[in-house]
Amino acid sequence: MNDRFDRLAAVVGNTPLIAVRLRFRGRSRTVYAKAESFNLTGSIKDRMAFHILRRAWQEGTIRPGDLIAEATSGNTGISFAALGRALGHRVAIYMPDWMSQERVAVISSLGAQIVPVSQEQGGFLGSIRLTEERAASEPRVFLPRQFSNGANVEAHELSTGPEIWAQLAAIGRVPDAFVAGVGTGGTVMGVGRYLRSRRAEVRVHPLEPAESPTLSTGHKIGRHRIQGISDEFVPEILKLAELDRVIAVHDGDAILMAQKLAQELGLALGISSGANFLGALLVQEELGADAVVVTVFCDSNKKYLSTDLVREEPVRPGYLAPEVELLEFEAIARAA
Ligand SMILES: Cc1ncc(COP(=O)(O)O)c(C=O)c1O
Repeated sequence: MNDRFDRLAAVVGNTPLIAVRLRFRGRSRTVYAKAESFNLTGSIKDRMAFHILRRAWQEGTIRPGDLIAEATSGNTGISFAALGRALGHRVAIYMPDWMSQERVAVISSLGAQIVPVSQEQGGFLGSIRLTEERAASEPRVFLPRQFSNGANVEAHELSTGPEIWAQLAAIGRVPDAFVAGVGTGGTVMGVGRYLRSRRAEVRVHPLEPAESPTLSTGHKIGRHRIQGISDEFVPEILKLAELDRVIAVHDGDAILMAQKLAQELGLALGISSGANFLGALLVQEELGADAVVVTVFCDSNKKYLSTDLVREEPVRPGYLAPEVELLEFEAIARAA
């Protein structure tokens, strides 16, 4: 099995770092972002799924042929469906029934069972409860528990973080700050821990939708359109006390920013990538236009072709995307 993981490792992580050149509020700037659509299934969640499964194999908590059952708003389901199948597992994905059609279709195309969970059944929290019930009532069920499994954080501490450090070092830079939208919090916690282990003063900011400030208020309020972040609770692995302040971005602004990155630079990204880019700019505004601020482009636009990402989005007062003048981008190759 170790061999199998070693071979799969070649298609997980080691993504390019994109340096986006732009002008904002009269200053030339660069924002750095990991291009996570280069992973096997096209999102950052492959890193977490791969590492959780590898750890489980090493620790003997999963056995050949076990069913993997996970609650997810989408990308995680795609990652476990693909990597689970690659390792010979059956996979069942529990997800709220309002997630995009593309995500549902991709997960079923990978042979996973989909269990849609309605708002009445408890939505996201209901999905988690149903996986626990299945594991209690059926033998041979492995629960990755991405919201509480420390291996999720470790995935980014051992891969995303060191890659960012090495790719910046290759161009003679060190990071001043890292910003990432919080789904499980695995990315922001893991990358943050690694970068701070190299440079204690690196700022590490979680990001959430302004329409649904779950992290700032401690409980679920409002609705938003940035799929993949801000589910219905504050995740267990997210330790807000270890992080800098929460950055808020409007979902419409994130959509406009993602549209702009696609139309003007050819970077076809999901909505959370637009949010992360704006979050990085906000932090750069505080630190100075020359600050090295890094974020993640979590996935591409392909799972959002039935969403507002491909519709005209009204500009509202306070939005930042209309002020951003994108110039060009450069890709810093995966570390050798
Ligand atoms: C599109 C997208 N962006 C961001 C995230 C958040 O990443 P994390 O769970 O590491 O906080 C996810 C997680 O599912 C995602 O699917």
